[in-house]
Amino acid sequence: MLSPGLEKLLATDRPTPYLALDPQVVRERYRALTAAFGDARVLYAVKACPEPAVLRALVSCGAGFDVASQAEIDLCLAAGADPALLQHGNPVRGPGAAARAAAAGVTRFVTDSAEDVDALAAEVPGARVQVRLSVDDTGSATPFHGKFGALPGEAVALLRRVAASGLRAAGVTFHAGSQQSRPGTYAAAVAVALRVAGAGGLRRPELDLGGGWPVAYRAAVPPPADYAAAVRAAVAGAVAAGDVDGATLLLEPGRALAAPAGVLRARVLRVSRRPGIDHRRWVYLDVGRYQGLAETEGEAIGYPVRVPGRDGPCGPVVLAGPTCDGDDVVYRRTPVALPLDLAAGDVVDLLTAGAYTSSYASVAFNGFGPLRVVLPQEGASGGLPG
Ligand SMILES: Cc1ncc(COP(=O)(O)O)c(C=O)c1O
Repeated sequence: MLSPGLEKLLATDRPTPYLALDPQVVRERYRALTAAFGDARVLYAVKACPEPAVLRALVSCGAGFDVASQAEIDLCLAAGADPALLQHGNPVRGPGAAARAAAAGVTRFVTDSAEDVDALAAEVPGARVQVRLSVDDTGSATPFHGKFGALPGEAVALLRRVAASGLRAAGVTFHAGSQQSRPGTYAAAVAVALRVAGAGGLRRPELDLGGGWPVAYRAAVPPPADYAAAVRAAVAGAVAAGDVDGATLLLEPGRALAAPAGVLRARVLRVSRRPGIDHRRWVYLDVGRYQGLAETEGEAIGYPVRVPGRDGPCGPVVLAGPTCDGDDVVYRRTPVALPLDLAAGDVVDLLTAGAYTSSYASVAFNGFGPLRVVLPQEGASGGLPG
């Protein structure tokens, strides 16, 4: 069921494509997640949806922010965020980036290499630093494939290097892979992380559980309470084992807060039969891989698709985007059934689309502009004028 705010936005006829976004849903999701995790601090991962109205909503909830660049820092500060609640979570920093972040008031950084620790020590002496661990991300729809994080032995060495370099070793972080469907994956990561923290000399570390909290796209996912229970049990196990005396929890949700707040409304450009090539109809939309549907690469994320106001018989389709790129096919394997009388000009909605859509859209590949965002009261922002 859509929120009243989304229903209202979608009731108005507008040029497509656009992302209808309801910050009230973000607030509700924030409350649900924090209720499940008790006193854990939330750092919203700005990359999921950096829309200023979303950031303002989260500032009003008391959230902090996981930022990856100076532009994201500036967006958070413009939305009224306290710089003390910002964490620079991207360990790939160019020269001077940490110093610029610190000049803006950021005091918290994440690292995963000796090279970065040395750069932080030179640029931001005294800063609080978490070490990112590479963990098993089985159960994730979009795993990191080892791009970030250190293995446990190296992570212990990094914690010691941080402490020896005039920085403050704050704790350990990991990312269990986005759209992580298994609470047990977090539990296993927590056990390793707290062993690493203890071996690195931290008795009460920050334990930053990263992002990955899933949303129900086409299939149900475990509720936040299941994840919280798995994490709590793992922390208790680490304390019982003597690895640490306790831990301060942080979460970095992106998808879980933003995805349910958005509906991507598109329009059919063409419905084609393709004799000899595919028995299904091909439905070409005015939005595709390059206007916000980047996460359909490899068909990793399967958005629910609906044609509002139509209840006639449906049949299977291939869903494709509008550009001339061969990769601009949204769903070829993922089953999508749309009305048999679907025609050019009809409206199609992709649901649960508030995360990693507007922020991923290209500038104007093939002349198709970035995804316009439409918000309650505040009108439209971003993208080309529609
Ligand atoms: C460091 C970090 N934290 C949090 C997130 C948010 O992840 P998710 O949207 O899966 O919650 C990401 C996403 O890539 C990330 O890189």
